[in-house]
Amino acid sequence: MIKKIIFAAATLLLLSCGDNSRATEENVLPTPMHIEKASGKFTFDGGIKIEINAPVEDSIRLLQALSDVGITANNNAGKSITLLLCDSVAGITSPEGYRITTTPKHITAEGTSGAGLFYAVQTIAQLYNAANYIPCGTITDQPRFEYRGLMLDVSRHFFGKDYVKKQIDAIARYKMNRLHMHLTDAAGWRVEIKQYPRLTQFAAWRSQELWKDWWYGDRLYREEGAPDAHGGYYTQEDIREIVQYAADRYITVIPEIEMPAHSEEVLTAYPQLSCTHEPYKQADFCVGNEEVYTFLENVLTEIMELFPSKYIHIGGDEAAKASWPTCPLCKSRMKEEGLANVNELQSYLIERMERFVNSKGRSIIGWDEILEGGLAPNATVMSWRGTDGGIKAVRAGHKAIMTPGEFCYLDSYQDAPHTQPVAFGGYLPIEKVYSYNPVPDSLTPDEAALIYGIQGNVWAEYIPTEQLNEHMIYPRILAIAEIGWSPQDKRNYEQFRTRALNAVKQLRKNGYNAFDLSCEYGNRPLSLAPNNHLAKGKRVAYATGSPYYPTYTAGGDSALTDGIHGGWNNSDKRWQGFIGRGGIDVCIDLEEEKEIKSIAADFMQLCEPGIYLPAEVEISASADSSTFHTLATIGHNVVRDDTLSFKSYGWEGETKARYIRYRAIRGKQGGFMFTDEIVVK
Ligand code: ACM
Repeated sequence: MIKKIIFAAATLLLLSCGDNSRATEENVLPTPMHIEKASGKFTFDGGIKIEINAPVEDSIRLLQALSDVGITANNNAGKSITLLLCDSVAGITSPEGYRITTTPKHITAEGTSGAGLFYAVQTIAQLYNAANYIPCGTITDQPRFEYRGLMLDVSRHFFGKDYVKKQIDAIARYKMNRLHMHLTDAAGWRVEIKQYPRLTQFAAWRSQELWKDWWYGDRLYREEGAPDAHGGYYTQEDIREIVQYAADRYITVIPEIEMPAHSEEVLTAYPQLSCTHEPYKQADFCVGNEEVYTFLENVLTEIMELFPSKYIHIGGDEAAKASWPTCPLCKSRMKEEGLANVNELQSYLIERMERFVNSKGRSIIGWDEILEGGLAPNATVMSWRGTDGGIKAVRAGHKAIMTPGEFCYLDSYQDAPHTQPVAFGGYLPIEKVYSYNPVPDSLTPDEAALIYGIQGNVWAEYIPTEQLNEHMIYPRILAIAEIGWSPQDKRNYEQFRTRALNAVKQLRKNGYNAFDLSCEYGNRPLSLAPNNHLAKGKRVAYATGSPYYPTYTAGGDSALTDGIHGGWNNSDKRWQGFIGRGGIDVCIDLEEEKEIKSIAADFMQLCEPGIYLPAEVEISASADSSTFHTLATIGHNVVRDDTLSFKSYGWEGETKARYIRYRAIRGKQGGFMFTDEIVVK
C-alpha cells in the first residue's frame, strides 16, 4: 500500500562538509545517464519541506538517507524535496532508475521503486555534499547492469559486523547493490551454523593472526577461547543485522559457502566429510559420500534462512580433486552416475546442490570452474580467470557476473609497490580497473543481455586490518561502481578521475582510509616510454631447452629487444617468463660488430605466484657466434619474501662484439624467472 507521508522536523541541519566544488555532474559518481542543465539553483537556506510518497518502509529509508547527509525537514519552508513513487517514469526502464527535476524552489525525484528513489537521494546527497546546492535541470538516470557488487573476503582475515556495515554505507552511496561475503575458506569459517557448532567453536580459529604466518606456518586450527586462537565469526544475530542494514540501503548480501574445495577448515572440524577422514589433510569434500550432501544441505538451509538473497554462491573454484580418483566412494559415485572424469564429478556435486537450492526457490552462483564438467542448468557464473568463463556461460544461455582478476581483483597493488603496503602482487591502478568493459565485443546483443554485472573482489590474504582493507577498496571500487552503473559511451577516465578525487576527499572526511589518489606515483617509470638501445629490434635466438613459457610470451621472440619495458605487473604482457630447467639462454645478433659499454636486464621477484630472481646470470660476447668471452658472472642469494622487487643484472665496461649471450640460472626454489628487455648500450 502506498501512503503519502509528509515528514516535518523542527529544524534544518546544514551539516555538509562541502569542499566548495561546483555542484555539477562532476560530483555525481557514477556519472548519470543523462543531464539536462537549466539556469539557477536550489539552495537549502531557510529550510526545506520533505514530502515522500512511497510505502512506509521505503519512506523511512529515504528519510534516513537524506538525514545521513544532513538534509532534514522544516515543514514551514517554502522550498521542498518531493520523492514520488510512480508507475512509470519517462526515459527510465530499470526499476533502479530515477529522474530528478530541480527548480529554484522544488526538487522532485521520481522512481518506480524504493531503490530508484534511494539512488535519486544519493545523487542529491552527492551534489549537496559538494556545494550545498542542487543545480537546476533534469537528471535522468538508471544503471547499465543489474548486479553491481563488492566482495569481502572475511575468511582470510575476519572483519567484524560494524566494519561490514560501514562499507555498506559507502558502497550504497555509489549506487552499488550487492555485497558478496566470502564466508568460508581454509583460513576460517565465519558464520554460525546451529547444527554444526564445531564450525565456529573450532574451524573459525587458527594458530596465527596473520594469514601468511599461518599459511606458511603450521596451519593449525584452535578451540574458541584458546589463548592463541585468532579469528572470529558472525553469530546468526549478527548476520540478520548485517542483512537488514544492507536491505535498508537497497543492498542484497550474497553469502558464499565454498564447495567442494577451499574447505580445509570444515574437513578438519568434521574429517569424516573428506575422502581420507583425516583432519588437516584434505581441502576437497568427498563427493562420493552421502553424509557430505546432508552436511551441505543442512548448512545451506540455515544459510538460506539467514540470507533472503535470490542467489546463493557455492564457490566451486580451484578444486584439486586429488583425493577423488583413488577414493572408493568417489570412484563408485563416478561409476554409478556414468561420470567420465573428476571434472564431471565436481559438476555432479554442483548440479546436485543446485537442485537443492532451486527447490527452495533460490539460484546458485559459482566461480567459473563450475563450467568445467558441464554447467548446472540454472547456474550463474562468476568469471574470474579472465573473461572466457563469462563468455562461455552467456553463450550457453546463462547469466554471468564479470570479475576478471586482471581488472577486478582489488587485492593487487594499486600504485607503485614501493609506495604501498605489501599486497598479493600484480599492479591494478584505478585507471586500469576503469578501462574494463564487462561486455566483450564478441557477444551478440542477446548474449550481452546476459552479462548480469560486475564485481570488485577484495581477497584478504595480505589484508589483516580494516584500515588496510579500506585502503584497498577505495577508491578502486568507485571505478567498479561507475562501470556497473554508467552507460559505456558516457564513461571517460579523465572526468571520472576528477570525480574520484572529490570522492576520496569525501570518503576520508567520513572516516574511510581511502588511498589518496592525488598522491598516485604511477607505473614503473621505465615502462612509460620505449627504450632505444643498440639491441632494439635485433633478432634473439633462444637455446633449445630454454623456451619462454606460453602464458608469458610478452609478444614472443622479439620481446627481449623490442624496447618495451614491463611495468609493476607481472601479467602486463611485457614480462617474458621462463620456468624450464634450462633457465634463460638467449643470443642477440647485433648484425655487425659494435662497441659496447653496458649490457643489462631487469628481473622481477614476486614469490606468491612463484616468480624469483635468478641465482646467477652470465653475460658473454662474441664476434662470430662460436667463441664467446665471458664479460660478467653475477651471483645472487635468492631469498623468499613478501614484496615485489626488481633487480638489474648487468655488466659495464668496454668491448666490441656482434653477438651477445645472456644466460640466467634459477635458484633451488625453482619457479619462474621474469625479464622484460636486454638493454645493450
Ligand atoms: C578465486 O579467486 N579463487 C575465485
